[in-house]
Amino acid sequence: MLEKLKTLKAETLIELEEITDAESLRQLKNAVIGKKGEITTIKRSIGQLAPEDRPAVGQLANEIAQELESAFAEREELVKAHEMAQSLEEGEIDVTLPGRPVARGRLHPTTRMLRDIYDIWADMGFQVYRSRDVEDDDTNFTLLNIPPHHPARDMWDTFYTTDEGVILRTHTSPGQIRAMRDYAPEPIRVILPGMCYRYEQISARSEVQFNQLEGLAIGKNIRMTDLKGTIAEFARRMYGAERKVRYRCSHFPFTEPSMEVDVECVLCDGEGCGVCKYTGWLEICGSGMVHPVVLKNGGYDPAVYSGFAFGFGPERMAMLRYGIQDIRYFWGNDLRFLEQF
Ligand code: DAH
Repeated sequence: MLEKLKTLKAETLIELEEITDAESLRQLKNAVIGKKGEITTIKRSIGQLAPEDRPAVGQLANEIAQELESAFAEREELVKAHEMAQSLEEGEIDVTLPGRPVARGRLHPTTRMLRDIYDIWADMGFQVYRSRDVEDDDTNFTLLNIPPHHPARDMWDTFYTTDEGVILRTHTSPGQIRAMRDYAPEPIRVILPGMCYRYEQISARSEVQFNQLEGLAIGKNIRMTDLKGTIAEFARRMYGAERKVRYRCSHFPFTEPSMEVDVECVLCDGEGCGVCKYTGWLEICGSGMVHPVVLKNGGYDPAVYSGFAFGFGPERMAMLRYGIQDIRYFWGNDLRFLEQF
C-alpha cells in the first residue's frame, strides 16, 4: 500500500508538469485528491488493513495528499498565467482603437417646452401643483359647473373606466377644484401641468393623450385686467416683446367672462401663412375669471374672493416652436424624430 501511494505521488507530479490548461488540471485533481479520487479511496480502505499497518499508511496518505494539494495550487497559478498570455495573444486586442460612441439620450420636445413654461411662470410667482390623471366625473365636470347631461360635456369626449364615475381627466381644470380645496381660504397662484385623455379620432392636429398646463390665481380683488396683463407678460417672455397679443370673447362653463388669447403668428410675423390659416394669429390659450359656482365648490366665498384661470396646450406650443407638422410624432417613439432635438 505504501508503495502504491508513493507511485501515485510520483506519477501525479510528472503528469502535472505537462498540464497547461485549466480543464485537464481540474480533471487530474479530481481523480487524485478529489472526493472520489484515488488517495481518498485509499484512506477509506485503511480499515481493511492489518491493524499494525494502519498508522503508517494513514500518515503517508495524509502527507502525500497535502504535498499534492500544494503542487496543484502552484500549477493552477501557472496555468492561469499561461491561459491569460495565450488569450491576449490570440485576442489581438488593439488598445489604441477608439471606443464605440455611447448613444446619448435627449429630452423629449414636450419636456423641453414644459420646462421653459415652468421657468416663466415660476418667475412670475406660480408654483407647480400636481393633480391626478384618474379623476372622478364630479371633479372633472360637475364641480366645474358642467352638470350631468349638459350639452357642454360634448366638448370633452371622455374615456370611462369600468368603475362607475371614474374617468381619465379630459382636461387639467379639475385640478383647480383640488388646489382650491387644499388651500382655501388662502390665496393661490399655481400652474397645473399634466396629461389629459380624450376619446377622439387621432389626426395630425389631435391626439387621444396630450399635455395641458392649467393656471389658477385666487385672492381678493383679482380682476380681468390682472388676467390680461399676466397672459400678455407670459406671451412676451415666451414669444418676444414685440409680439402682439389679442383677446377674443369665448365661452367655458367654469369661467365668466371667458376669452381665448391669440399671439401674432410666430412663423409669418402676422403676414398670414399656412400654419395660422392666413389669419396672422395663433391661439395660445383659453382663460377667464373663475365662475362663482366653481369658487364656491372650491371652498371660497365668491362675494369675497375672485380669481382667474387659463389653460395652455404644450404640444401645440412645441409644434410651433420646432415646426412640427403632425402631433402624432410626439407619441410615435420614432428615434429619427426624437434625435432631432
Ligand atoms: N379646460 C379647457 C379645455 O380643456 C381649457 C381652459 C379654458 C382652461 C379656460 C381654463 C380656462 O382654465 O379658464 O378646453
